Amino acid sequence: MTKRDELLSAVESSVRAYCDAEHDFRFKANDPVVRLHEPTFSTDEIMAAVECLLSTKVTMGPKVVAFEKEFCGAFNFAHGVMNNSGSSANLLAVAALANPAARDGLKPGDEVIVPALCWSTTVWPLIQLGLVPVFVDMDPETLNIDPEQIERAIGPKTRAVMLVHVYGNPCDMDAIVSICNKRNLILIEDCCEALAATYGGKAVGTIGRVGTFSFYFSHHMTTLEGGICVTDDFELAELMRILRAHGWVRETENRDAYLKQYPDFDPRFLFVNLGYNLRATELQGAIGSVQLPKLAGFVDARRENTAAWKKDLARFGEFLAFQQETPKGRSSCFGFPMTLTDKAPFNVRDLMAHLNKARIETRPIIAGNMAAQPGLKLYQHRIVGDLPHSSWIMHNGITFGNHQAVDAKARDYVTGHVESFFKAQGLI
Ligand SMILES: Cc1ncc(COP(=O)(O)O)c(C=O)c1O
Repeated sequence: MTKRDELLSAVESSVRAYCDAEHDFRFKANDPVVRLHEPTFSTDEIMAAVECLLSTKVTMGPKVVAFEKEFCGAFNFAHGVMNNSGSSANLLAVAALANPAARDGLKPGDEVIVPALCWSTTVWPLIQLGLVPVFVDMDPETLNIDPEQIERAIGPKTRAVMLVHVYGNPCDMDAIVSICNKRNLILIEDCCEALAATYGGKAVGTIGRVGTFSFYFSHHMTTLEGGICVTDDFELAELMRILRAHGWVRETENRDAYLKQYPDFDPRFLFVNLGYNLRATELQGAIGSVQLPKLAGFVDARRENTAAWKKDLARFGEFLAFQQETPKGRSSCFGFPMTLTDKAPFNVRDLMAHLNKARIETRPIIAGNMAAQPGLKLYQHRIVGDLPHSSWIMHNGITFGNHQAVDAKARDYVTGHVESFFKAQGLI
């Protein structure tokens, strides 16, 4: 053993002892609490990060590249461009599609159809790039963008669709791809809630031109913060690598071709486009490589919880509706969203308060109808119809923690408190 290995091993022993003592995230009947999320990482991931810090090699390098390759290998994506968040992944994907160097690129003023039930940074990159979001309504059963509403929304300026696979539930991709092909629209998949979800056996992400994922702390797997853009289009991937880092060619695969084209420049400092700094760190790449093999287990836990809750809560089906998996889709069950039916004689906030009192954390489904948020009023956008389902979901939606640390005991605890709510309401 080298001195370095010896020292590292001592650090690891201490970290492991700390984590063994402090990182028990399982549900405890004698101190019950069900949080919206619990950490997916412990000793192994912390050591991967510590090793980067100790080596002092912390900025984007081989560990990020290795993670990109492993991630793409796991899901059969041709190219992956890691960055520092899912929001950055959305920004980078849209920026690349709207860049003058892009094939049939988007132009300022072009419209992009988005589901009203989305996250803020599904929409902000469109606005940041001079595009106009067009909000359409959801299918109330799958909670995903309704293909009929996409057709209805298409106008002369419509150039793209940016969908969200809500809570890991794949959208109706056959219908959406067919609309996009027929109308010559670019399809962007915001998969930030849909790690490891599949449609017709294929991972979501590259069914459209480009897809984005998030590795935020609370997601199926994490790199603390982090994200990745995936595509089967090599030129788009190269453009994203350039825009990710200052407009630099340094991290492109075609670097030598660029250097040959511009021999008069110092090869270390050749800028062929505009750019941001959306790079991930080596720590994030290293953590990702440790988390990735655990992802299937994390997803299985969320799927098992979903199936069990759907069964156990079915008796309240008159008042509670559950998200339905899309035909041909395999959801990665990011959460367990429920919406009140129109027969429910109570307010969702009362149900939330009842669960919160029992230390079961709750939240709305994503943030509800994004088109209703005040920030949108500052910017040009278009709304198609009255968005009745998105508004209903916003005011009648609830979700609680569905993650790898939720087990049968935690599930029963939640189910028991949903039941006690219905009893208190005199409904059972
Ligand atoms: C649909 C969707 N898009 C984008 C994001 C942004 O991801 P991040 O939090 O990694 O920036 C999220 C966040 O969870 C999301 O749910």
